[in-house]
Amino acid sequence: MRSSVLLLTLAALVAAAPVAEQQVFTAPASSSLAPPTLSSLGLSADVAARFQEHIDSLPERRLVKLAEDAEPIEISEGEKALLTFKGVKFMDVTDEVVLPLAQSKEAFPTKLTYDAKFLKPLFKKIDTNYMKEFLTKFSSFPDRRYRSASGKESQQFLLKTLKDIAKTNKKVNVSFEEVVHSWGQNSIVARFEPAKWHTDAKLSEKIVIIGAHQDSTNMFPWLGAPGADDDGSGTTSSLMAFSALVNSSFSPSTNPVEFHYYSAEEGGLLGSQGVAQKYAAEGRQVRSMLQIDMTAWVKSGTKPTVGIITDFVDPDFTSFLRTAVSEYTTIGFTDTLCGYACSDHASWSKIGAPSGFTIESTFPDSNKLIHTTGDKLDASPEFSFEHMAEFSKVAIALAVELGGGASLE
Ligand SMILES: *[C@@H]1O[C@H](CO)[C@@H](O)[C@H](O)[C@H]1NC(C)=O
Ligand SMILES: *[C@@H]1O[C@H](CO)[C@@H](O)[C@H](O)[C@H]1NC(C)=O
Ligand SMILES: [Zn+2]
Repeated sequence: MRSSVLLLTLAALVAAAPVAEQQVFTAPASSSLAPPTLSSLGLSADVAARFQEHIDSLPERRLVKLAEDAEPIEISEGEKALLTFKGVKFMDVTDEVVLPLAQSKEAFPTKLTYDAKFLKPLFKKIDTNYMKEFLTKFSSFPDRRYRSASGKESQQFLLKTLKDIAKTNKKVNVSFEEVVHSWGQNSIVARFEPAKWHTDAKLSEKIVIIGAHQDSTNMFPWLGAPGADDDGSGTTSSLMAFSALVNSSFSPSTNPVEFHYYSAEEGGLLGSQGVAQKYAAEGRQVRSMLQIDMTAWVKSGTKPTVGIITDFVDPDFTSFLRTAVSEYTTIGFTDTLCGYACSDHASWSKIGAPSGFTIESTFPDSNKLIHTTGDKLDASPEFSFEHMAEFSKVAIALAVELGGGASLE
């Protein structure tokens, strides 16, 4: 999630933040389309000096967009930290080619093929203890920044975990690809191939993508970034769905199904744009792309719900998502808005892939501790593994509904 949450409640932040963070925190002013300058942030001299040091260390020029219809502006890699600090969402378009996918529009079904009863055996494999064990490790890296050494280590840990899961069942045909980026932390693709015995059936090359982002950030570039909710939770929900499908010997019968774990979402959707552009250049086609970014938080006093983002998404796929969430989760959905460049689905929308986005709640009720050292899984009872499990169900359901469930029948 690219936080546009400017109204970090001070009380919540103070409760969770270490002393250093409390002392320097200044409520960010509302965003404007001009990039913020260091002097406009009203920081203490100490903190401003640390920001300046960070900016000086990363002078590479980048082009970023702050709104759909705005012209790109030039800033340095280091100056992105000022955008993150202010909660301004941005897309890094420096390497943008915008090659659209070569594919025709395909409608989404208005009725589901299966139902919750059919998928119950898979849902039973969702293990919140395992999810907690994985996320505890994943959020224990000092940070998962896309340019840092620990960001590279956390990526290798995630890849190894996925490969170990795939190895548990010789009957599944899962292939892995690391999409190599210039900054160090690679994006990961885990692909369920349709089985050979399906080749007589009506096979499509259009890929069903389930996405999450593996990197994390902090509004202060020198502090740790546990990123338990953003987007450790979505990564975990997705990984649990992947595991349940592996353990069920799932082999898609109509469309290939891919689980994507993007690098550098927090750097301006860099990893997902890289993967999307690669796919377009290779002539691949996409049936659907679902982004799962932040799945853990149930704000105190609110009813658990699946937030369905309705802007910068495909309306037809989003209607299908509502139908699937109603059938396959126990909590239903609530529509909500997220804004420009909110998460990696935007990289796919841009090239014409039908994309959608599910999130932990309505956007206003989402976790306000993201991009701080307080984004931890034990931050509050509001951090819920049962809630995360509902998003695993959605991912499993999409894989089976759109990838084809003949292997499970
Ligand atoms: C599914 O997981 C269970 C529990 O780990 C294991 O005993 C079983 O062998 C797995 N099944 C397959 C087909 O991998
Ligand atoms: C797995 O899928 C790939 C790509 O379709 C295929 O070449 C390979 O033979 C498959 N392996 C098995 C064991 O089915
Ligand atoms: Zn995120």
